[in-house]
Amino acid sequence: MTRKQQVADAFAAASETYDTAAQAQVRSGGRLAELVVDRLRKPNPRVLEVGCGTGLLTRALMPAVGGDWLITDLSPAMVETARREVGQGRFAVMDGEHPDGSAGPFDLIVSNLAGQWFLDLEGAVSRLAACLAPGGLLALSTLAHGSLREWRAAHAELGLADGVMDFPTFDALRFMMPARADLQSQVFAVTHVDGRDFLSSIRAIGARLPAPGYRPLTPGAMRGLIRKLGSPVEISYHVVHVLLVRE
Ligand SMILES: C[S@@+](CC[C@H](N)C(=O)[O-])C[C@H]1O[C@@H](n2cnc3c(N)ncnc32)[C@H](O)[C@@H]1O
Repeated sequence: MTRKQQVADAFAAASETYDTAAQAQVRSGGRLAELVVDRLRKPNPRVLEVGCGTGLLTRALMPAVGGDWLITDLSPAMVETARREVGQGRFAVMDGEHPDGSAGPFDLIVSNLAGQWFLDLEGAVSRLAACLAPGGLLALSTLAHGSLREWRAAHAELGLADGVMDFPTFDALRFMMPARADLQSQVFAVTHVDGRDFLSSIRAIGARLPAPGYRPLTPGAMRGLIRKLGSPVEISYHVVHVLLVRE
């Protein structure tokens, strides 16, 4: 099974529990929606959403900008949940890294916290930007270095591998994006009762696929890790919002 199919399956399995635990996604999506409302110049835009999940960003942004929405995700189960929760717009299963160009052009392309799952974020941004109409806006948020740092530090102190993907630094993202792109950092923390509660939330949103090659901890190592993290536990997120206007 390819890594991409594993990603789709992991999120599919979480389509009915996602909204109960997606606190970080709500925070990031709220900020992304504010940035879009501030920068979008076109009334009644043609909108493409990539990696819609259950439609959290869709529900936050659609009433503010209106327009004609094509709402997509890699996971068919997520598309069906979004269709039910959003109730309007057009829906399709699509790999956002390889957008179907015939569906465009779009005045707005949005994506909240799907980019960290892409195999080639730089290539994806360039292909998505090519689907914009002149003057169109691409607004995409992704996780950056510093995210989940408490989880990683607790593993490191115990000499354990953490399985967290290597999120790019802000500078690495700056380097990979076109020079005219505006990048903005958003740093916040989500509080969990303890490490187990954090793990449950990760499973509930479907983000449970570890970095390739990771071997799960033994039950004893997991107990040591939960003790090390203590209670309550704060988990940090560093989200980078990329805003790119097509000339
Ligand atoms: C963390 S969720 C974010 C969902 C939603 N945007 C939100 O704000 O709640 C990530 C979503 O990206 C989707 N995804 C991952 N890789 C994708 C890809 N290559 N193309 C489209 N969607 C993808 C997953 O299926 C999942 O629904």
